[in-house]
Amino acid sequence: MSSVSSSDSVRTKHAILERLLAGPVPGPDLAAELGVTRAAVWKHVEELREEGVDIEGGSGGYAVRGLPEYGWAALTAAVPDPYTVIYEPALASTNDVAKELAASGELDVLVAADEQPGGRGRLGREWVGPPGGVYASLLFRPDRGPADAPFLTIAAGAAVADGLVECGLEPGIKWPNDVLVGGNKVAGILTEMEAEADRIRWVVLGLGINANVPDESLPDRATSLASVCGAAVERAPLLGDILSRFETYRRNPDRTLTAWRENAITLGQAVRADTPHGPITGTAVDIDPSGALEVETADGIERVHAGDCEHLRPRSE
Ligand code: BTN
Repeated sequence: MSSVSSSDSVRTKHAILERLLAGPVPGPDLAAELGVTRAAVWKHVEELREEGVDIEGGSGGYAVRGLPEYGWAALTAAVPDPYTVIYEPALASTNDVAKELAASGELDVLVAADEQPGGRGRLGREWVGPPGGVYASLLFRPDRGPADAPFLTIAAGAAVADGLVECGLEPGIKWPNDVLVGGNKVAGILTEMEAEADRIRWVVLGLGINANVPDESLPDRATSLASVCGAAVERAPLLGDILSRFETYRRNPDRTLTAWRENAITLGQAVRADTPHGPITGTAVDIDPSGALEVETADGIERVHAGDCEHLRPRSE
Protein backbone atom coordinates (compact mmCIF):
# COMPACT_ATOMS: atom_id res chain seq x y z
CA MET A 1 0.00 0.00 0.00
CA SER A 2 1.37 3.40 -0.91
CA SER A 3 1.99 5.89 1.87
CA VAL A 4 0.32 8.54 -0.28
CA SER A 5 -3.04 9.53 1.14
CA SER A 6 -5.51 12.35 1.12
CA SER A 7 -6.32 13.80 4.54
CA ASP A 8 -8.11 16.57 6.45
CA SER A 9 -4.78 18.39 6.67
CA VAL A 10 -4.43 18.40 2.85
CA ARG A 11 -8.01 19.63 2.54
CA THR A 12 -7.32 22.50 4.97
CA LYS A 13 -4.15 23.46 3.09
CA HIS A 14 -6.17 23.32 -0.13
CA ALA A 15 -8.84 25.64 1.36
CA ILE A 16 -6.16 28.07 2.59
CA LEU A 17 -4.47 28.24 -0.83
CA GLU A 18 -7.80 28.74 -2.61
CA ARG A 19 -8.74 31.53 -0.21
CA LEU A 20 -5.35 33.23 -0.59
CA LEU A 21 -5.62 33.04 -4.38
CA ALA A 22 -8.92 34.95 -4.13
CA GLY A 23 -7.10 37.93 -2.52
CA PRO A 24 -5.11 39.04 0.53
CA VAL A 25 -6.48 38.08 3.93
CA PRO A 26 -5.21 38.58 7.50
CA GLY A 27 -4.26 35.34 9.29
CA PRO A 28 -6.89 35.67 12.07
CA ASP A 29 -9.67 36.27 9.49
CA LEU A 30 -8.51 33.26 7.51
CA ALA A 31 -8.56 31.09 10.64
CA ALA A 32 -12.08 32.27 11.50
CA GLU A 33 -13.37 31.80 7.93
CA LEU A 34 -12.09 28.23 7.73
CA GLY A 35 -12.83 27.28 11.34
CA VAL A 36 -9.22 26.37 12.16
CA THR A 37 -6.71 27.72 14.69
CA ARG A 38 -4.29 30.53 13.88
CA ALA A 39 -1.47 28.07 14.53
CA ALA A 40 -2.89 25.77 11.84
CA VAL A 41 -3.04 28.67 9.37
CA TRP A 42 0.58 29.59 10.16
CA LYS A 43 1.72 25.96 9.77
CA HIS A 44 0.02 25.58 6.39
CA VAL A 45 1.30 28.93 5.13
CA GLU A 46 4.83 27.82 6.03
CA GLU A 47 4.27 24.51 4.21
CA LEU A 48 3.00 26.34 1.14
CA ARG A 49 6.12 28.55 1.19
CA GLU A 50 8.31 25.45 1.43
CA GLU A 51 6.49 24.11 -1.65
CA GLY A 52 7.50 27.22 -3.58
CA VAL A 53 4.37 29.38 -3.22
CA ASP A 54 5.48 33.00 -2.88
CA ILE A 55 3.36 34.33 0.02
CA GLU A 56 3.86 37.84 1.33
CA GLY A 57 2.86 38.54 4.92
CA GLY A 58 2.37 42.33 5.09
CA SER A 59 0.02 44.50 7.13
CA GLY A 60 -2.89 43.62 4.84
CA GLY A 61 -2.45 39.95 5.69
CA TYR A 62 -1.19 37.06 3.61
CA ALA A 63 -1.06 37.54 -0.18
CA VAL A 64 0.04 35.12 -2.91
CA ARG A 65 2.59 36.69 -5.26
CA GLY A 66 3.48 33.63 -7.33
CA LEU A 67 3.07 29.90 -7.81
CA PRO A 68 5.65 27.31 -8.83
CA GLU A 69 5.41 25.93 -12.40
CA TYR A 70 4.17 22.51 -11.31
CA GLY A 71 3.48 20.51 -8.20
CA TRP A 72 0.79 20.39 -5.52
CA ALA A 73 0.14 24.15 -5.29
CA ALA A 74 0.13 24.81 -9.04
CA LEU A 75 -2.25 21.90 -9.61
CA THR A 76 -4.51 22.82 -6.69
CA ALA A 77 -4.84 26.30 -8.16
CA ALA A 78 -5.67 24.87 -11.59
CA VAL A 79 -7.92 21.83 -11.15
CA PRO A 80 -11.69 22.25 -10.94
CA ASP A 81 -13.80 21.58 -7.86
CA PRO A 82 -14.39 19.20 -6.15
CA TYR A 83 -11.00 17.57 -6.62
CA THR A 84 -8.21 17.62 -4.05
CA VAL A 85 -4.70 17.02 -5.32
CA ILE A 86 -2.12 14.49 -4.24
CA TYR A 87 1.23 15.20 -5.84
CA GLU A 88 4.60 13.50 -5.57
CA PRO A 89 7.67 14.20 -7.73
CA ALA A 90 7.76 10.50 -8.69
CA LEU A 91 5.14 7.76 -8.44
CA ALA A 92 5.42 4.33 -10.06
CA SER A 93 1.90 4.70 -11.49
CA THR A 94 -0.60 7.41 -10.59
CA ASN A 95 -3.41 5.05 -11.60
CA ASP A 96 -2.21 2.50 -9.04
CA VAL A 97 -2.13 5.11 -6.27
CA ALA A 98 -5.60 6.36 -7.23
CA LYS A 99 -6.91 2.77 -7.15
CA GLU A 100 -5.47 2.29 -3.65
CA LEU A 101 -7.24 5.47 -2.56
CA ALA A 102 -10.47 4.18 -4.12
CA ALA A 103 -10.11 0.92 -2.23
CA SER A 104 -9.87 2.88 1.01
CA GLY A 105 -13.10 4.73 0.20
CA GLU A 106 -11.77 8.03 -1.15
CA LEU A 107 -13.29 9.85 -4.10
CA ASP A 108 -12.76 13.14 -5.95
CA VAL A 109 -8.98 13.10 -5.86
CA LEU A 110 -6.42 13.91 -8.55
CA VAL A 111 -3.15 12.00 -8.17
CA ALA A 112 -0.27 13.50 -10.15
CA ALA A 113 3.49 13.11 -10.54
CA ASP A 114 6.30 14.72 -12.51
CA GLU A 115 7.89 11.36 -13.29
CA GLN A 116 6.30 7.92 -13.53
CA PRO A 117 8.76 5.03 -13.82
CA GLY A 118 6.12 2.24 -13.75
CA GLY A 119 3.40 3.81 -15.90
CA ARG A 120 0.84 1.55 -17.52
CA GLY A 121 -0.81 2.00 -20.90
CA ARG A 122 -3.82 0.32 -22.51
CA LEU A 123 -3.85 -3.39 -23.28
CA GLY A 124 -1.08 -4.14 -20.76
CA ARG A 125 1.47 -1.92 -22.47
CA GLU A 126 4.08 0.23 -20.77
CA TRP A 127 3.71 4.01 -20.66
CA VAL A 128 7.09 5.71 -20.62
CA GLY A 129 7.16 8.44 -17.97
CA PRO A 130 10.33 10.57 -17.87
CA PRO A 131 10.42 13.76 -15.74
CA GLY A 132 8.55 16.71 -17.23
CA GLY A 133 5.40 14.90 -18.35
CA VAL A 134 1.82 15.09 -17.20
CA TYR A 135 0.94 11.86 -15.38
CA ALA A 136 -2.37 12.30 -13.65
CA SER A 137 -5.24 10.10 -12.48
CA LEU A 138 -8.68 11.40 -11.64
CA LEU A 139 -10.65 9.33 -9.11
CA PHE A 140 -14.39 9.92 -9.13
CA ARG A 141 -17.80 8.24 -9.15
CA PRO A 142 -19.78 8.99 -12.32
CA ASP A 143 -23.52 9.03 -12.40
CA ARG A 144 -23.61 6.24 -14.99
CA GLY A 145 -23.81 2.51 -15.38
CA PRO A 146 -20.78 0.39 -16.28
CA ALA A 147 -21.86 0.08 -19.92
CA ASP A 148 -21.30 3.81 -20.31
CA ALA A 149 -17.71 3.71 -19.03
CA PRO A 150 -16.11 3.81 -22.52
CA PHE A 151 -17.96 7.09 -23.08
CA LEU A 152 -15.85 8.63 -20.29
CA THR A 153 -12.71 7.80 -22.25
CA ILE A 154 -14.21 9.43 -25.33
CA ALA A 155 -15.05 12.52 -23.23
CA ALA A 156 -11.46 12.63 -21.93
CA GLY A 157 -10.04 12.33 -25.47
CA ALA A 158 -12.24 15.21 -26.62
CA ALA A 159 -11.13 17.29 -23.61
CA VAL A 160 -7.43 16.63 -24.27
CA ALA A 161 -7.82 17.53 -27.95
CA ASP A 162 -9.58 20.79 -27.03
CA GLY A 163 -6.82 21.61 -24.53
CA LEU A 164 -4.20 21.16 -27.24
CA VAL A 165 -6.17 23.31 -29.68
CA GLU A 166 -6.02 26.04 -27.00
CA CYS A 167 -2.21 25.67 -27.13
CA GLY A 168 -2.36 26.46 -30.87
CA LEU A 169 -1.92 22.84 -32.01
CA GLU A 170 -3.94 20.74 -34.46
CA PRO A 171 -4.47 17.46 -32.63
CA GLY A 172 -6.14 14.37 -34.01
CA ILE A 173 -7.88 11.65 -32.00
CA LYS A 174 -7.25 8.10 -33.09
CA TRP A 175 -10.01 5.82 -31.78
CA PRO A 176 -10.48 5.20 -29.01
CA ASN A 177 -8.29 7.73 -27.25
CA ASP A 178 -4.82 8.29 -28.65
CA VAL A 179 -4.17 11.97 -29.20
CA LEU A 180 -1.70 12.69 -31.99
CA VAL A 181 -0.01 15.79 -33.32
CA GLY A 182 1.58 15.60 -36.77
CA GLY A 183 0.93 11.84 -36.83
CA ASN A 184 2.83 11.20 -33.58
CA LYS A 185 1.27 10.33 -30.23
CA VAL A 186 1.37 13.02 -27.55
CA ALA A 187 -1.24 11.73 -25.10
CA GLY A 188 -3.06 8.60 -24.02
CA ILE A 189 -5.82 7.68 -21.59
CA LEU A 190 -6.18 4.59 -19.42
CA THR A 191 -9.59 4.23 -17.77
CA GLU A 192 -10.05 1.69 -14.99
CA MET A 193 -13.10 1.12 -12.81
CA GLU A 194 -14.90 -0.99 -10.26
CA ALA A 195 -18.60 -1.56 -10.79
CA GLU A 196 -21.65 -3.51 -9.72
CA ALA A 197 -24.25 -4.69 -12.26
CA ASP A 198 -25.91 -1.28 -12.70
CA ARG A 199 -23.66 1.18 -10.94
CA ILE A 200 -20.03 2.28 -11.10
CA ARG A 201 -18.33 2.40 -7.68
CA TRP A 202 -15.37 4.38 -8.93
CA VAL A 203 -13.50 5.29 -12.07
CA VAL A 204 -9.81 6.11 -12.32
CA LEU A 205 -9.17 8.11 -15.45
CA GLY A 206 -5.42 8.10 -16.11
CA LEU A 207 -4.06 10.76 -18.39
CA GLY A 208 -0.54 10.74 -19.80
CA ILE A 209 0.70 13.72 -21.80
CA ASN A 210 4.21 13.91 -23.22
CA ALA A 211 4.57 17.53 -22.18
CA ASN A 212 8.13 18.74 -21.49
CA VAL A 213 10.04 15.52 -22.11
CA PRO A 214 12.82 14.86 -24.63
CA ASP A 215 11.62 13.07 -27.79
CA GLU A 216 14.64 10.73 -27.47
CA SER A 217 13.14 9.27 -24.28
CA LEU A 218 9.85 8.40 -26.02
CA PRO A 219 8.90 5.39 -28.16
CA ASP A 220 8.77 5.57 -31.97
CA ARG A 221 5.79 7.48 -33.37
CA ALA A 222 5.55 9.56 -30.17
CA THR A 223 6.51 13.17 -29.62
CA SER A 224 6.24 15.82 -26.93
CA LEU A 225 4.37 19.09 -26.70
CA ALA A 226 7.64 20.93 -26.03
CA SER A 227 8.95 19.54 -29.30
CA VAL A 228 5.92 20.44 -31.44
CA CYS A 229 5.45 23.84 -29.73
CA GLY A 230 9.17 24.69 -29.81
CA ALA A 231 9.08 25.63 -26.09
CA ALA A 232 8.10 24.13 -22.75
CA VAL A 233 4.37 24.19 -21.99
CA GLU A 234 2.82 25.24 -18.68
CA ARG A 235 1.54 21.92 -17.42
CA ALA A 236 -0.71 22.94 -14.54
CA PRO A 237 -2.97 25.34 -16.50
CA LEU A 238 -3.06 22.83 -19.37
CA LEU A 239 -4.17 19.98 -17.11
CA GLY A 240 -6.64 22.24 -15.27
CA ASP A 241 -8.18 23.29 -18.58
CA ILE A 242 -8.44 19.68 -19.80
CA LEU A 243 -10.08 18.53 -16.56
CA SER A 244 -12.57 21.40 -16.60
CA ARG A 245 -13.53 20.48 -20.14
CA PHE A 246 -13.79 16.82 -19.15
CA GLU A 247 -16.17 17.71 -16.31
CA THR A 248 -18.40 19.53 -18.81
CA TYR A 249 -18.20 16.85 -21.47
CA ARG A 250 -18.96 13.91 -19.21
CA ARG A 251 -22.28 15.55 -18.34
CA ASN A 252 -23.10 16.44 -21.98
CA PRO A 253 -22.96 13.37 -24.23
CA ASP A 254 -24.12 15.18 -27.37
CA ARG A 255 -21.49 17.90 -27.06
CA THR A 256 -18.88 15.25 -26.34
CA LEU A 257 -19.65 13.23 -29.46
CA THR A 258 -19.66 16.36 -31.61
CA ALA A 259 -16.30 17.50 -30.20
CA TRP A 260 -14.80 14.03 -30.55
CA ARG A 261 -15.94 13.74 -34.18
CA GLU A 262 -14.52 17.20 -34.98
CA ASN A 263 -11.05 16.08 -33.94
CA ALA A 264 -11.23 12.43 -35.01
CA ILE A 265 -8.72 11.22 -37.58
CA THR A 266 -10.12 7.68 -37.57
CA LEU A 267 -13.46 8.53 -39.19
CA GLY A 268 -13.42 7.99 -42.94
CA GLN A 269 -10.35 5.76 -42.64
CA ALA A 270 -9.90 2.19 -43.82
CA VAL A 271 -9.26 0.38 -40.52
CA ARG A 272 -8.62 -3.00 -39.03
CA ALA A 273 -9.88 -3.36 -35.48
CA ASP A 274 -8.76 -6.26 -33.33
CA THR A 275 -11.65 -7.53 -31.25
CA PRO A 276 -12.02 -10.57 -28.96
CA HIS A 277 -14.07 -12.17 -31.79
CA GLY A 278 -11.40 -11.60 -34.41
CA PRO A 279 -10.36 -8.73 -36.66
CA ILE A 280 -12.88 -6.43 -38.33
CA THR A 281 -11.86 -4.64 -41.51
CA GLY A 282 -13.76 -1.85 -43.19
CA THR A 283 -14.26 1.90 -43.13
CA ALA A 284 -14.68 3.69 -39.80
CA VAL A 285 -17.83 5.76 -40.21
CA ASP A 286 -18.78 7.01 -36.72
CA ILE A 287 -18.88 6.36 -32.99
CA ASP A 288 -22.11 5.53 -31.20
CA PRO A 289 -23.23 7.17 -27.92
CA SER A 290 -21.36 4.56 -25.88
CA GLY A 291 -18.11 5.38 -27.68
CA ALA A 292 -18.05 2.21 -29.79
CA LEU A 293 -16.49 2.58 -33.25
CA GLU A 294 -18.88 1.90 -36.11
CA VAL A 295 -17.13 0.16 -38.99
CA GLU A 296 -18.82 -0.34 -42.35
CA THR A 297 -17.87 -3.81 -43.57
CA ALA A 298 -18.96 -5.98 -46.48
CA ASP A 299 -21.58 -7.45 -44.08
CA GLY A 300 -22.91 -4.13 -42.81
CA ILE A 301 -22.10 -1.95 -39.80
CA GLU A 302 -20.08 -3.64 -37.04
CA ARG A 303 -19.55 -2.01 -33.65
CA VAL A 304 -16.15 -2.23 -31.97
CA HIS A 305 -16.44 -1.65 -28.24
CA ALA A 306 -12.85 -2.10 -27.14
CA GLY A 307 -9.43 -2.95 -28.45
CA ASP A 308 -7.02 -1.44 -30.93
CA CYS A 309 -7.70 0.05 -34.30
CA GLU A 310 -5.10 0.27 -37.03
CA HIS A 311 -5.38 2.86 -39.80
CA LEU A 312 -4.70 0.88 -42.96
CA ARG A 313 -3.88 3.86 -45.16
CA PRO A 314 -2.83 6.53 -42.68
CA ARG A 315 -3.38 9.98 -44.10
CA SER A 316 -1.06 12.80 -42.97
CA GLU A 317 -2.39 13.12 -39.41
C1 BTN B 1 -2.36 4.50 -23.56
O1 BTN B 1 -2.37 5.28 -24.52
O2 BTN B 1 -1.99 3.33 -23.68
C2 BTN B 1 -2.82 5.00 -22.23
C3 BTN B 1 -1.70 5.65 -21.45
C4 BTN B 1 -2.13 6.14 -20.09
C5 BTN B 1 -0.96 6.65 -19.27
C6 BTN B 1 -1.42 7.30 -18.02
S1 BTN B 1 -0.14 8.26 -17.25
C7 BTN B 1 -1.12 8.45 -15.82
C8 BTN B 1 -1.82 7.14 -15.58
N1 BTN B 1 -1.00 6.24 -14.78
C9 BTN B 1 -0.63 5.15 -15.47
O3 BTN B 1 0.08 4.23 -15.03
N2 BTN B 1 -1.14 5.21 -16.71
C10 BTN B 1 -1.94 6.39 -16.92
